[in-house]
Amino acid sequence: MPQDAPAEPETHDAIVLGAGAAGMFCAAMAGQRGRRVLLIDHAGAPGRKILISGGGRCNFTNLGTAPDRFLSANRHFAKSALSRFGPQDFLALVDRHGIAWHEKTLGQLFCDGSAKQIVAMLMDECDRGGVEIALGQPIAAVEHADGMFRVTAGSRTARAPALVIATGGPSIPKLGATGFAYDLARRFGLKVVEPRPALVPLTLGPDEALFRELSGVSAPVVARCGKAAFAEAALFTHRGLSGPAILQVSSYWRHGEAIAVDFLPGAAPGWLTEAKRAQPRATLRSLLARTLPDRLAEALAERLALNGELANLRDGALAEAERRLTGWRFTPSGSEGFAKAEVTVGGISTAELSSQTMEARRVPGLFAIGEAVDVTGWLGGYNFQWAWASGWAAAQAL
Ligand code: FDA
Repeated sequence: MPQDAPAEPETHDAIVLGAGAAGMFCAAMAGQRGRRVLLIDHAGAPGRKILISGGGRCNFTNLGTAPDRFLSANRHFAKSALSRFGPQDFLALVDRHGIAWHEKTLGQLFCDGSAKQIVAMLMDECDRGGVEIALGQPIAAVEHADGMFRVTAGSRTARAPALVIATGGPSIPKLGATGFAYDLARRFGLKVVEPRPALVPLTLGPDEALFRELSGVSAPVVARCGKAAFAEAALFTHRGLSGPAILQVSSYWRHGEAIAVDFLPGAAPGWLTEAKRAQPRATLRSLLARTLPDRLAEALAERLALNGELANLRDGALAEAERRLTGWRFTPSGSEGFAKAEVTVGGISTAELSSQTMEARRVPGLFAIGEAVDVTGWLGGYNFQWAWASGWAAAQAL
């Protein structure tokens, strides 16, 4: 009996690897432009990060989207895609699907109901585009020859003249996140900017034990790292610091650097010596407790070792206390790493990609989108907006 000839690989116009935010949106938009698209993911369900995002309500975009809210080795790279597919474009889609939403704060848009609605919307858009979706398919091999990409995933082999890397970054591995995008990019000779955990809680060493006792306490602060400054809440945890202000600066922070926290945002210079004149009987602790949680006021006053009534404290000591309170330096011992990071800073180098199409300059037909690329947004819906915008840009070129 002659042996069966190996089955001919299926042919598509494009294969998209990763059914997350960027991959689903890109596949849907390309499909709706008439392309035959195969979307592959090793997870058994699509959009798992979308489902847990925004506390289950998905902060799907930010009305204040602007290129300066993104970190990248090339700060101009994201401009083109963001200007051609902006928050209003995504919002129009959300409205077309009848998904109710609200602005929470700082331009952040959330679903009123559930993040499941965004995943259902993307699946519906894929359906409209005739996208074939292969879930639960570990990618065994990716080859490239004669202008065709050949992908073996699970039991099937598919080929296409275009391949889109949309497998995201390695943050939250327990959700199926991997560094696959970087390995694949490197195999094609593309440079990868060192990936680091971002939007991640920072840890404090034993020297800061006093602050670790404040676990659960939060306060409005201005947190700074280098030139980056964020006026939001900071939260003390049993391991160190978290809360939006800290998550934001964590994206800029590097090992060994200090961050500065202003516990008196908005206080006029000389505030403390002025308070001494106006309320000589007050203590530093009681004064701080007017704007800060009690336990934090107590810990700060204890650290500053300024006891007794303000009237008995020297102006110089008060000026020094004010200086420390408005720029309290913490040198984190580390971060909680990729296990807890919302996103990854770094990734496939933007120098390798066209900012118009996300196509690799040196490997025609190869595209990279979403978090896999060295473009990382601030907290607040910016990362999804990048996923939509970069996915849309690639879809126009497929
Ligand atoms: P994404 O990670 O979404 O998708 C990648 C896909 O590739 C996944 O489906 C994965 O299974 C698949 N994949 C990975 N490796 C593979 C492999 N080897 N083979 C096959 N498939 C593979 N952002 C925001 O703007 N607003 C928000 O509210 C939040 N909230 C939030 C909360 C939490 C807890 C996290 C962890 C993250 C957020 N984010 C966020 C960030 C946001 O989720 C993230 O930036 C986007 O999901 C990135 O979209 P991508 O499609 O690039 O990757």
